[in-house]
Amino acid sequence: MSTKTPDLTAAYGLKTPDDNRKLYAEWAGDYDDGFAAREDYQLPMHTARAFVAAGGQGPVLDVGAGTGLCGAVLSGFGVGPLDATDISAEMLAQAMRKDIYRDAIEADLNLGIPVPRDSYSGVVSSGTFTHGHLGPEVLHALLRVARPGAQFAISINAAHFVEKGFDFALRRMAQGQIENLKLPQVRIYGDLAAGPHKDDMAYIALFEKS
Ligand SMILES: C[S@@+](CC[C@H](N)C(=O)[O-])C[C@H]1O[C@@H](n2cnc3c(N)ncnc32)[C@H](O)[C@@H]1O
Repeated sequence: MSTKTPDLTAAYGLKTPDDNRKLYAEWAGDYDDGFAAREDYQLPMHTARAFVAAGGQGPVLDVGAGTGLCGAVLSGFGVGPLDATDISAEMLAQAMRKDIYRDAIEADLNLGIPVPRDSYSGVVSSGTFTHGHLGPEVLHALLRVARPGAQFAISINAAHFVEKGFDFALRRMAQGQIENLKLPQVRIYGDLAAGPHKDDMAYIALFEKS
């Protein structure tokens, strides 16, 4: 285990799923009170609110749920049941301690999600489609587990969106696989953030499965 506390710069520099597993195993215990509090991390709240405002309902899968910050906001809105999926057992353990998730599904999203197709009426994701993490190719695995009509609210770091071709992927999906695509932008961090990424933006991809 490294002696340096994980941070956003390290997370954005990750290359492989194994890198992610290792970093988040170290970060899990400090993520909420350290990173999220210090950086005034707002993206889980924006993502959950956008989902609810779009009429999203449970059962919901929280993709790359981490310690459950997005699920906590959804739960506060009365949305459920909620399941969490993530590559990191340690992050999922923190999420389950919040007592808001029905189930924790440990999975590398690049390899698919081990649940039956059409399982969910909603899919949310906050902070997982970003530098060093996941690209647009994973969106198809999310569609598989969603029911027709399911509401999606997927945050995508704005620089990563351009760099990895999310625009092309989403517009292609809009030709028959998804409907009502909207891409509002939000600030990832709040006014108290001070780090080098304090002004970073994200899109929230809102759409329904056809
Ligand atoms: C920045 S955290 C976001 C966590 C939470 N959603 C939030 O907004 O606080 C990114 C999460 O993506 C997960 N992740 C990274 N690569 C993954 C993969 N290949 N499959 C599943 N989860 C992955 C990490 O373990 C981590 O919990």
